[in-house]
Amino acid sequence: MKASDLLKPANREEAELLEKVDPKRLPNHVAIIMDGNGRWAERRHLPRVAGHRAGVKAAREVIETCARLHLPCLTLYAFSLENWRRPQAEVDFLMRLLREYLKRELPVIRKNNIRLLVIGRSAQLPEAVRKDIADAMNLTARNTGMKLVVALNYGGRAELADAFNALLDHIRANGLSAFRADEQTISDHLYTAGLPDPDLLIRTSGEMRVSNFLLWQIAYAEIYVTEALWPDFSRARLLEALVDYQKRERRYGGLGSPRARATAAGNVEGADGRGGRSDGSGRSSRPARG
Ligand code: FPP
Repeated sequence: MKASDLLKPANREEAELLEKVDPKRLPNHVAIIMDGNGRWAERRHLPRVAGHRAGVKAAREVIETCARLHLPCLTLYAFSLENWRRPQAEVDFLMRLLREYLKRELPVIRKNNIRLLVIGRSAQLPEAVRKDIADAMNLTARNTGMKLVVALNYGGRAELADAFNALLDHIRANGLSAFRADEQTISDHLYTAGLPDPDLLIRTSGEMRVSNFLLWQIAYAEIYVTEALWPDFSRARLLEALVDYQKRERRYGGLGSPRARATAAGNVEGADGRGGRSDGSGRSSRPARG
């Protein structure tokens, strides 16, 4: 199957990019730090909120594209714990926008068999937002297609603190004095329990930061930073990110393909033909981490 069997290209650029996407090697989970709404608006001499409105449009296109490509999981960083520091009017607008989005897009989300999940300290969100989220999650709970995870009032360190406290509660409640946690135990107590870790982390607007997003889960994620501001992150920009991801070799701290292993061992044959190491130790000179 070709990617263009899943998604009708709207123009030549999309058609060319779709040709390059292998639908069998898509990431299981794409996580996106949507950044640059304010700058997008400023460049047009518009109020910041106009950037957020345009950002919703971009989010809609990305969500629908990922669902059509049968991506198992997409996480969007919509509101961080730090975002409360913005002017109250902007915070209120973002909350209203989210409710508006849920109300308007729910039929499309349901039609596309998408399951909505929200991660973060939801208890601190305004009552009306909490109710709309709960309704939307209930209405999509049985959907079997893409999981759309919206990070709202989310912080990566707060998530880890919440996970450790949940574990401590469990230990105390059950008197487990000999309890020891392993990596799986910690993963199982995160907001994202049961979801695959992101394979691809996208950040828009050129900033080279992870901004307290999914700190535990992105341990081995490929990172893709684009200069495009979030409202300009069109379907074509998403396809570019997927093409770039598919060109990368993921090693998880190992040596990857036989070709890479041969290079590391200084074995000329099967490597790049330009010779191997010069110190003759036979050990890799590459750092051990992935
Ligand atoms: C970053 O722009 C974006 C946000 C603060 C998040 C809000 C996201 C949206 C409104 C997109 C819609 C999302 C959903 C799930 C419907 P910024 O204000 O930080 O931009 P700046 O860095 O240029 O100021």
